[in-house]
Amino acid sequence: MKACVLNGYDKKGRSLEIVNVQKPEIGNNDVLVKTRTAGVNPLDNMIIHGDVKLIVPYKTPLVMGNEFTGVIEKVGKSVTRFKVGDRVYGRMPLRKIGTFAEFIAIEQDSIAIVPEYLSDEEASCVPLTALTAFQAFEIMRPKAGETIFISGGTGSLGAMAIPLAKSFGLSVITNGNAENRDRVIELGVDRFIDYKTEDYSKSLHDVDYVLDTLGDRELAKEFSILKQGGKLVSLKGLPNGEFASRFGMPFVKRMLFGMVGRKYDKMADKKNQSYHFIFVHEDGKGLETISKLFTEKKIKVSVDEVFSLDDVNKALEKVANGKSKGKTIIRISK
Ligand SMILES: NC(=O)c1ccc[n+]([C@@H]2O[C@H](COP(=O)([O-])OP(=O)(O)OC[C@H]3O[C@@H](n4cnc5c(N)ncnc54)[C@H](OP(=O)(O)O)[C@@H]3O)[C@@H](O)[C@H]2O)c1
Repeated sequence: MKACVLNGYDKKGRSLEIVNVQKPEIGNNDVLVKTRTAGVNPLDNMIIHGDVKLIVPYKTPLVMGNEFTGVIEKVGKSVTRFKVGDRVYGRMPLRKIGTFAEFIAIEQDSIAIVPEYLSDEEASCVPLTALTAFQAFEIMRPKAGETIFISGGTGSLGAMAIPLAKSFGLSVITNGNAENRDRVIELGVDRFIDYKTEDYSKSLHDVDYVLDTLGDRELAKEFSILKQGGKLVSLKGLPNGEFASRFGMPFVKRMLFGMVGRKYDKMADKKNQSYHFIFVHEDGKGLETISKLFTEKKIKVSVDEVFSLDDVNKALEKVANGKSKGKTIIRISK
């Protein structure tokens, strides 16, 4: 089968090679999926650059790609939740990615049935970013009526985090690119701030939660608008000791990340706030909950551009260049 392979890490970015590899074998608890579409994420470029090596030390050559939509072709002996012909989607398990390929083998606990109203392209916008937002809300445990600030909510993460936040009854403030203002307001944002013309730290204060997508350059400001005792969950800052423990890392890594993330823990301590870093992991049950919510609310998703598998490097470049109007997708088969 055709697959896009990373042959070695490179800080400046390296082209994936399109090669023929063996179709994957399935274990008793796995399904074999014929891949239809795959979502392309900033995470893919981070993996290529070696930026997440300390969290997940992938060995090269590595078939790339973190999320997919496809149809089940074969099921393992112990598979009870799915059958041949089901249209499913998912975020690949952290230890074994590889959706930029014609087939994938994945365990049943990592996938869910795709909501019928979503096309294959739309469906591949959902798993990684919706699970990221879902896992952030699992840490926040928000209550209806509270307020959240989502930084950079005009990107593909915001497109999932905003409707999820609204489904919890939160008041949502976001900032981002003004070209996407109408799209995020349609998703339910209560207040939009154009990041190029307005400094949110001058007008916002005492928000209950911050979902940070921008990392170090914004974190001090984001803590300044958070209430005493509020929670900040970052997707882009540095991991800390609390992350390493939650992630089940060994003692040495817990110590290492404890030192790495101390700067943000200290910022949080000043007002008894808490700092959490997340790295999105596979979760079929969580994705099932997300599918139900999407089916019920018919949440709209935004596809930006669709590339063929042969154009995978153009798709990665597009994501690296920003200016996204939604998700970049690779169409692999009909
Ligand atoms: N830790 C995890 O598990 C995890 C999971 C998913 C995503 N992430 C991270 O989350 C981040 C966002 O992901 P994404 O898919 O949403 O990216 P994206 O689609 O590229 O969107 C980023 C958005 O932020 C806007 N932006 C840029 N600079 C800004 C600023 N100073 N203030 C406010 N908005 C600004 C961008 O606008 P412009 O068009 O003007 O640039 C764009 O609309 C990425 O860094 C990604 O790596 C992490």
